[in-house]
Amino acid sequence: MKKAKLILDKDYVISDIDKRIYGSFIEHLGRAVYTGIYQPGHPTADKLGFRKDVVDLVRKLNVPIVRYPGGNFVSGFNWEDSIGPVADRPKRLDLAWKTTETNEVGLHEFCDWARQADSEVMYAINLGTRGTDAARNVVEYANHKGGSYWSDLRIKNGAKDPFGIKLWCLGNEMDGPWQMGSKTAYEYGRIANEASKMMKWVDDSIETVACGSSGTGMPTFGEWEYTMLTECYDNVDYVSLHRYYGNPHNETEDFLASTMDLDDFIKTVASICDAVKGKKHAKKQVHLSLDEWNVWYHSNEQDQQLYKTEPWGNALPLLEDIYNFEDALLVGLMLITMLKNADRVKIGCLAQLVNVIAPIMTSKNGGAWAQTIFYPVMQASNLGRGKSLLPQITCEKFDTKHYSDVPVVDAAAVFTDDEGVTIFAVNRDLKEGVALDCDLRSFGDLKVVSHSVLHHDDVKAINTEANPNEVVPVEAQLPREGEAIVLPAASWNVIRLAK
Ligand code: AHR
Repeated sequence: MKKAKLILDKDYVISDIDKRIYGSFIEHLGRAVYTGIYQPGHPTADKLGFRKDVVDLVRKLNVPIVRYPGGNFVSGFNWEDSIGPVADRPKRLDLAWKTTETNEVGLHEFCDWARQADSEVMYAINLGTRGTDAARNVVEYANHKGGSYWSDLRIKNGAKDPFGIKLWCLGNEMDGPWQMGSKTAYEYGRIANEASKMMKWVDDSIETVACGSSGTGMPTFGEWEYTMLTECYDNVDYVSLHRYYGNPHNETEDFLASTMDLDDFIKTVASICDAVKGKKHAKKQVHLSLDEWNVWYHSNEQDQQLYKTEPWGNALPLLEDIYNFEDALLVGLMLITMLKNADRVKIGCLAQLVNVIAPIMTSKNGGAWAQTIFYPVMQASNLGRGKSLLPQITCEKFDTKHYSDVPVVDAAAVFTDDEGVTIFAVNRDLKEGVALDCDLRSFGDLKVVSHSVLHHDDVKAINTEANPNEVVPVEAQLPREGEAIVLPAASWNVIRLAK
């Protein structure tokens, strides 16, 4: 068995963890909304048409914020289409996903759903085909108490109290040529600055997220962040990062090393924010919003077929990745990477939440179930709150096709005064277990009180509606006094230590 050592010290804290890193995302795309969270007539639907089986699973994930309504969708969306009597709402072509949007679920309905899910809405405005006027109006509609045109219209439409949306995305992936109304960095920086400024004039309690480049592979990456932040630094609070990984060539070791890239991505964007801060002699710190992250590749071919055979349909099964066990390991590693960068990453949105590249799946005529990736997200969200500790890890390293010096074990640790220490650890070795020796120094006499392990002998194992418990965490036997903790080969581990 391999050996590793983890040193943690109470005085070595990376940062308080912002609970919003455990956010998620619902886009008007595929079956996320229609037959996902919303399906009037379904046996579990409430009087508003929301599926209770789905909301129950969302609550288990303990999702503090949900980004909405897009994504690529938002860049052609008129928010006004989504308010007022449902029968009067227009059906629109959504050019992003080649579907027809009925607007049956809109702003009021989604805010009702988020309340049921114990979540807050992170609302994205359209800076593709719309501009500053629509941006300030939707803030007035959602957040102003009353006595103005848009706030009185909200009241007339049934919501006496403001929705109080605190977090706003200034468009989506605006450097992508696939985006409706895509822009140059300068064009985007200018409009983001003006939109954010006016939105904050309407409600000075809100925070805004400027679009970073849509990916590190974009020719615009880096320069985009620098140029657009130069224009809007003073008026925005966060920069967005989007990152998806895949294993299309079945190179699992390389796939599990991809979080080396995520760590680099986060640190690069943080440096660019700081470069602009320095250039502007600013005191203010802009932080990061990793507001799309996940594994995404399984559904690509099927989606290409669907676009050909059913263009302009509604609630098509788009982006329905079926996640296997190795995907759950990577999702766990991505969560660890976010925790280790908790000083800069303040917001994270697992993309997405239901049916579309999602931890939760539904069938139209059946139930809802948890995919493999559900479990690391649930455990990190419920137990990964408090302070993120600096983990000092000593272990073997290996090289893969794209990465060098990949540590066999990656881990993050969190601490709260009442709960003690929780360690999240992945053993990347596919064949051999690792004996983890934990040195908790200043914490005194802590004992391992639980050790949950997510492992499957087959890295391609999946959960299905008929067999939803193929890949689920199980409790491991606790180590005796003085014994190391064993991280089985290919495993996600949650180890809790307390007095
Ligand atoms: O999450 C799916 C899509 O991925 C989003 O709509 C877009 O922002 C990104 O490219």
